[in-house]
Amino acid sequence: SSQAEIAPRVVRWQEAHGRNHLPWQQTRDPYRVWLSEIMLQQTQVSTVLGYYARFLERFPDVRALAEASQDDVMALWSGLGYYSRARNLHRCAQVVVSDHGGAFPSSAEVLATLPGIGRSTAGAVAAFCFAERTPILDANVRRVLTRVLGFDADLAQAKNERALWGHAQALLPVTDIESAMPRYTQGLMDLGAGLCLPRNPDCGGCPLQEGCVASIEGQPERYPVRTRK
Ligand code: ADE
Ligand code: SF4
Repeated sequence: SSQAEIAPRVVRWQEAHGRNHLPWQQTRDPYRVWLSEIMLQQTQVSTVLGYYARFLERFPDVRALAEASQDDVMALWSGLGYYSRARNLHRCAQVVVSDHGGAFPSSAEVLATLPGIGRSTAGAVAAFCFAERTPILDANVRRVLTRVLGFDADLAQAKNERALWGHAQALLPVTDIESAMPRYTQGLMDLGAGLCLPRNPDCGGCPLQEGCVASIEGQPERYPVRTRK
């Protein structure tokens, strides 16, 4: 498909075949969405569900989290691993309260200045909560987009990583942004987690197969290209 068709196809596919009942999809509260994105960075959905519910029960808003002791935060995180995430989470809540009046910033650009929030997580929160027209590029989405585009420049080089962000921006929806941005963002995540897998991607079930350079070439697993640093 032409590049202009990619976003509408992802949006339509997400509506019919994507995940739409996860707890963090039932809200546009940036605190809840941010918490889910941090937990989901290195942990699978099935594991996150229980931790997410317990965490929100104990810390229902960003002020409650900011005022908690580090020990209490760590106790609720215990078992999720990657404990720097929990320390950054706590620090981020404190900065949102001290520097932003207790309200999460509504742009990806400002979100990305907060502890533990990288450019892709900032994009996800801004797209899901504020329908900002801004891209994400986590590992799953990087795989989908490099394959669709046939982008085979070495992502170990910063200039190529920057170029891919530019492509991700150029592929964003152009109409009906308020509903399309959250759905498109979730759809790319769902394609990367469910169909466009590292090994044996299900190209036959993919809404982007027509025109996907990697699929047409017959070697989708070649992407993404990254040399060892
Ligand atoms: N992984 C990262 N963000 C996610 C989301 N919003 N839904 C499901 N899995 C995710
Ligand atoms: Fe990935 Fe295959 Fe879809 Fe291309 S057609 S995006 S390689 S699943």
